[in-house]
Formats: sequence, structure tokens, C-alpha cells
Amino acid sequence: MIDTELRVSKIEDGTVIDHITGGQALNVLAIIGIDGSSGEEVSIGMNVPSDRLGRKDIVKVEGRELSQNEVDVLSLIAPAATINIVRDFEVVEKHRVTRPETVVGVLSCPNANCISTADEPIESRFDVLDEGVRCTYCETIIRDSIASHISAA
Ligand code: CTP
Ligand code: ZN
Repeated sequence: MIDTELRVSKIEDGTVIDHITGGQALNVLAIIGIDGSSGEEVSIGMNVPSDRLGRKDIVKVEGRELSQNEVDVLSLIAPAATINIVRDFEVVEKHRVTRPETVVGVLSCPNANCISTADEPIESRFDVLDEGVRCTYCETIIRDSIASHISAA
């Protein structure tokens, strides 16, 4: 049987982020802090055909699991994503992402005077609204291109 889904080879241990909104794979990599510089083994499929989404992206990361904070921010740009944990070539866990009430870390507040962007040990925190996300500390709202507010890894 020909597996038309299998664009990139199976991974042994790690995470497959599947059903990513088409075109968002590079933003997903930014959210999970991967830019290739630390030698991670990563496979990416972009705009591949999907029954459910028409076109989707897929990201496979060997030897890595995601933190809940990363998954929470990911849900904002890829609401239909599934997170598959792979061990010994088998999918041992699969879950859909869900839109959280708040996201902590990962994003940074665009307000330079916000306490979360000052040189203080305070993690960013945003409340998730229908129209975007709102900084808990200074109430600045990010409405568009949330991906451009991902903190540098
Ligand atoms: N996968 C992988 N390496 C493995 C196992 C699975 O890269 N060792 C990938 C598959 O190619 C697929 C995703 O992980 O893209 C989910 O695998 P699986 O649950 O087997 O596929 P489906 O049943 O098609 O998933 P879904 O129902 O979520 O679409
Ligand atoms: Zn702020």
C-alpha cells in the first residue's frame, strides 16, 4: 500500500506535530525554539494535501517533547494541530491542541515599558480573547500576526 501521507520518513523517538495550518510550519518551529543551530533532527512538510484541511504542514522533531506553554501558543496559530508522541517508531500518545485561557512565556509583550519586558524575572502572560491575546500586566492587545511576537529562543 502506498502511504501518500508519508512525505518524510518516520521518526524513532520524538514528536510529530501534524495538521498544522498550511504555511505555519516555520512559525511552529519558532514557537518551539528550533532554528537549526543546535543540531536538532527536524523534518518539515509544507502545504501537503490533507483530507481534513485541504493543505497542511507537518513538523517532526526527533528526541524532543513539547512543553505545555509551547503547545498553548501553538494552538493560537494552528488550532487543528495534533501532537503525536512517538516512542520506538510507534505513536504512543496523540492529542489535539486546545485554545487555552492564558499563555505563559513564549510570546513577548510589544510594550517596551511593560514589566514583563523589563529586566525582571517575570514571565510574559497573556489572556486569550476571541480577537487576539491581551497582556495580563499592561493590557496591550496583540490582534494580528501573533507569530511575530514569539520571543527569540
Ligand atoms: N509518524 C512518524 N513517525 C512514526 C509514527 C508516525 O512520523 N514513527 C507520523 C505519521 O506519518 C503521521 C503522524 O505521525 O503523519 C501520526 O501518525 P498516525 O497516528 O500513525 O497517523 P494517522 O492515523 O493518519 O493520524 P491522524 O488520525 O491524526 O491523521
Ligand atoms: Zn505587557
